[in-house]
Amino acid sequence: MSKVTVVGAGNVGATCANVLAFNEVADQVVMLDVKEGISEGKALDMMQTATLLGFDSNVVGCTNDYAATAGSDVVVITSGIPRKPGMTREELIGVNAGIVKTVAENILKYSPDAILVVVSNPMDTMTYLTMKLSGLPKNKVIGMGGALDSSRFKCYLSKALNAPANEIEGLVIGGHGDTTMIPLVRFASYKGRPVADILDKATLDKVVADTMVGGATLTGLLGTSAWYAPGAAAAYLVESIIHDQKKVIPCCVSLEGEYGQNDICIGVPVVIGKNGVEQILDYKLNAEETALFEKSAAAVRATNAVLSEINIL
Ligand code: LAC
Repeated sequence: MSKVTVVGAGNVGATCANVLAFNEVADQVVMLDVKEGISEGKALDMMQTATLLGFDSNVVGCTNDYAATAGSDVVVITSGIPRKPGMTREELIGVNAGIVKTVAENILKYSPDAILVVVSNPMDTMTYLTMKLSGLPKNKVIGMGGALDSSRFKCYLSKALNAPANEIEGLVIGGHGDTTMIPLVRFASYKGRPVADILDKATLDKVVADTMVGGATLTGLLGTSAWYAPGAAAAYLVESIIHDQKKVIPCCVSLEGEYGQNDICIGVPVVIGKNGVEQILDYKLNAEETALFEKSAAAVRATNAVLSEINIL
């Protein structure tokens, strides 16, 4: 029996739970929220789609009852406040760090063996915080940003190429921030053909720029953070863990010398399987990409430094 808990039944958490149930990724999905009744209501609503959509996963909701999450194989942490238009992800740190700390502590009391997938923003720093606080081995704490950003990159590439997104390969590494993420154009391809051979530089530059502000564009349109793709990206990671798919997914993990970095969680290509992080892949970056990665790591480090300034770490 596989069990996945999603903490935070807001838009992102509920979407993640819904995708997990619909795709029958786990036998049991537990949603937990601090707001009375919200996860119970959303779980019941989802269960009332079971016969319409034809799934057998069981979804339950609870209000802050961590005992109900006991024995989870994977826990997705989406708790915290979302962005408002004009806000950066980094501005959320003061509020969200305290929330993520409490959640991680409570979760590990009941599911000490769980693999944690961190979604809360600023995602790289929340992953680092979870890693430091939990003392878990580095294979067990994974931030989901790169999965989302890579999906957005492929979406914008598919529009530029006028080709189906599922025929396109592409990955985004670095931090999950408007100025820190790095869409790797050189590694992007359409059916094995480098996109740089098909699209002109101006078009590619626009794809990269649109990808980087992908979340902010949606925040502007929606008045709050996006949820369909963030929720689905988290579920995609969970599926690769639960079903031991060993998919290569760019995600935020603790680096110990890989890509020349230490004491940081940041996005790199990773093999994701039943042990969480199975392997960090060493894509050979060129000088320009390496410089971008170093700049991105410096920015993530600056945000991480706030954790000690606000006495969370
Ligand atoms: C986004 C938020 C969830 O990128 O980080 O939409």
